[in-house]
Amino acid sequence: MKGNDIRESYLSFFENQKGHLRLKSFSLIPKDDPSLLLIGAGMAPLKPYFTGKVEPPRHRVTTSQKCIRTGDIENVGHTARHHTFFEMLGNFSFGDYFKKEAITWAWEFLTEVIKLDKSRLYVTIYPDDHEAHDYWHKMIGLPENHIYPLSDNFWEIGEGPCGPDSEIFYDQGEEFGTDPENQMGGDGDRFLEIWNLVFSQYDRQKDGSYLPLAKKNIDTGAGLERLAAVLQHKKNNFETDLFFPIIEEAAALSGVPYGKSAQGDVALKVISDHARAITNMIADGILPSNEGRGYVLRRILRRAVRFGKLLGIENAFMGQMIDVVINMMKPAYPELVDKQAFIKKVAGVEEDRFHATLNAGTDLLSEMLEDSKKKQNTVLSGDKVFKLYDTYGFPWELTDEIAKEQGMTIDKEGFEAAMAEQKERARAARAKVSAKVATPDTTKLDASKLTTEDKDGETKLLLLGKDGKEISEAADGTEVTVILENNPFHAEGGGQIGDTGTITGEEGMIAVEDTKKLPDGIIYVIGTVTEGVIREGETVKVSVDRTRREDLARNHTGTHMLQAALRRVLGDQVNQAGSLVLPDKLRFDFTWPEPLSANQMAAVEQIVNDEIIKATDVNITEMPLEEAKKSGAMALFGEKYGDIVRVVTIPGFSKELCGGSHVRNTGELGSFRLISEGGIGSGIRRIEAVTGKAAYEMMKKDRELLARAAELLKGKPEQVPEKIEKALASEKELQHELEKLKQQQTKDELGSLMKDVQEKKGIPFFGAVVHAGNMDELRKAADVVKTKLKGGAFILGTVSGDKVNLVGMAQPEAVKAGIHMGKVVSRAARICGGGGGGKPAVAQAGGKDTSKLDAAIAEGIKAISEMLD
Ligand code: ALA
Repeated sequence: MKGNDIRESYLSFFENQKGHLRLKSFSLIPKDDPSLLLIGAGMAPLKPYFTGKVEPPRHRVTTSQKCIRTGDIENVGHTARHHTFFEMLGNFSFGDYFKKEAITWAWEFLTEVIKLDKSRLYVTIYPDDHEAHDYWHKMIGLPENHIYPLSDNFWEIGEGPCGPDSEIFYDQGEEFGTDPENQMGGDGDRFLEIWNLVFSQYDRQKDGSYLPLAKKNIDTGAGLERLAAVLQHKKNNFETDLFFPIIEEAAALSGVPYGKSAQGDVALKVISDHARAITNMIADGILPSNEGRGYVLRRILRRAVRFGKLLGIENAFMGQMIDVVINMMKPAYPELVDKQAFIKKVAGVEEDRFHATLNAGTDLLSEMLEDSKKKQNTVLSGDKVFKLYDTYGFPWELTDEIAKEQGMTIDKEGFEAAMAEQKERARAARAKVSAKVATPDTTKLDASKLTTEDKDGETKLLLLGKDGKEISEAADGTEVTVILENNPFHAEGGGQIGDTGTITGEEGMIAVEDTKKLPDGIIYVIGTVTEGVIREGETVKVSVDRTRREDLARNHTGTHMLQAALRRVLGDQVNQAGSLVLPDKLRFDFTWPEPLSANQMAAVEQIVNDEIIKATDVNITEMPLEEAKKSGAMALFGEKYGDIVRVVTIPGFSKELCGGSHVRNTGELGSFRLISEGGIGSGIRRIEAVTGKAAYEMMKKDRELLARAAELLKGKPEQVPEKIEKALASEKELQHELEKLKQQQTKDELGSLMKDVQEKKGIPFFGAVVHAGNMDELRKAADVVKTKLKGGAFILGTVSGDKVNLVGMAQPEAVKAGIHMGKVVSRAARICGGGGGGKPAVAQAGGKDTSKLDAAIAEGIKAISEMLD
């Protein structure tokens, strides 16, 4: 059974035979769950359904969920079954069926659908869970010696639903080992855990306590990769069809075949695992960075590249691995194909970047390790680990791994201290900006009573906060956060910055400076009390800065139009990489490998302005995500969409998922102007533009500039180009004239100098001081003299700045008669404190003492004359 078939047979078993709703895998980025960095279990995205906070679409759901777990990353590649990325098959009950059905159906699937040998199946249970024991033993008929009580059979992840569990193991046979490690729950490979059934009955709180859940749930998780290993009779997951094609590609690329050496196999396994993680993380909108999820991605990618290097792969190779991953996964995840180019681009840029620092960093680390060894030190200091991290981008885990390969360890605490110090420095630098604090605990509010109707007027101030704590009143000068009963302020999001405005109470006023959204969707405003006193609970009058909001709306719609126009001009490879919507301008970052030409820029601007002139109505509708995608709406990375999404459409031009402010009609933009285009890191371009008033202001400035230019040129604005052309032409002509005059002057000068030509043995010769700016000009003058002084020899000198230049030439007849200009020039140069020389026919030299130039020339003439004696 192929991996893709196992996934399908699991999902369709629960969908078609057990009444479950099949849902697509959720994004790896948790939605509104600050307790998790990444989705690490099938149940994680479903937490609100378990706790009853949100009503599920059905009380039975089944998924194959993409998961990332990096707790054991150093083990990946070394064991048969550790992974960073894996797929968890799960069936879930939200207050519907419980233990009995979960156990019955798991057994049915394993023994009847995929037909595993019953005698090889074992289970563990939570010691107190007699119910589970009886279901397994009495109902299923599993012998007692196949049921093990295990006290750590309790499952939880972050806050939320959890409970005792029962794990199902597959006995792979004695050839996998018989030592204690090869018992259930041990680290050995003989008993492979293939499925975990969690009887989820508790709700873990932030403080670590457990509250019973109102309804009992089922959460199960079966590792697709492990089922594949069992069904494909492979001794490790990497040899299944979910990994092996990647291993083969990396083996072909490196020339290191699988199965040849233990070290080579580890590297190939690491690469195959990490390639799957990288592909799916980027596909879900995670970009490499130095913190949070971005850091996890960076670490995985860098680890893969380093193992590639160990195999001897010197060039970027992730792109090739990603192609293989996508090819394997596309039957279940067709959206990967749409994002393929983007994923490869992001991974490629990061890979190149890492290559550049890797070499330098690896050398330095080797030196550090050598050095420590010499000093009989087995621990690499925290400062060194930090330096490698900070300067060379070495994740500490990577340094640790390399150090371990050489029998050394790292000072992790020291590293953390150095890291904390740096963070502190950064925080101090940011202190001013982030002095504004988040809101106090909002759980006492009834979220269902909060509204966001976009109208100014009276409402209630429900929660007043200062420095994250609730206060009853705030006086003039206090920075506060406020939650309103009806909040018309639009929160920061999707690149658009938050609204501003005023909140006026009985006896005071707040100037609203920003508006933000909490993860659970509650909106709060941040501001400063500028007059009197504001009290919690009082009725206030709120007023949004509407002019600013309209500017934001123009720029937000403008951003959508810019993206649409870019796609028309450059093609669909344009992918949004970020945006910022301010009242006075907009910024749009996108993937594109090279600068835009002037023609492309003009075309983009034209397309947007044509759309503005058409004055098209902008439609905003809400619909299910699937429908929105089907209708061709652009969904962007990194934004979290619920099931019902807001689609902003400019008919026939642009369609995007967006929660921001927009104009009603494109005509409201008035005008659109691009103001800059440039690169921000490889592969990403940034365009800035203005609309509305800002575009008009800019036009006015341009007009003033032109008027000023016209005034200077003493003409009308429309004559400016022609006048400039004329002025430039006339300047060129004057230059030419000047050049000619200078040459003439030199010629005249030479003409008069040549009156002093002497002659000996039929050879004419002379020497003179001329005007020349430098050696080049002096040689030009010498060339002129040469044509005039047939068969002769001469030396010329000039003062150029604070230096003397000398040049001498002799015609063949003169050389034959015994003249050697190299010697002549060298004698002359010595007089004025210099040196140089050359061949008999031509020589040049320099000197320092400009006052001795005449004497030097005289010496030269004398030298020529002597040579003719
Ligand atoms: N949530 C359970 C696990 O991840 C099924 O093992």
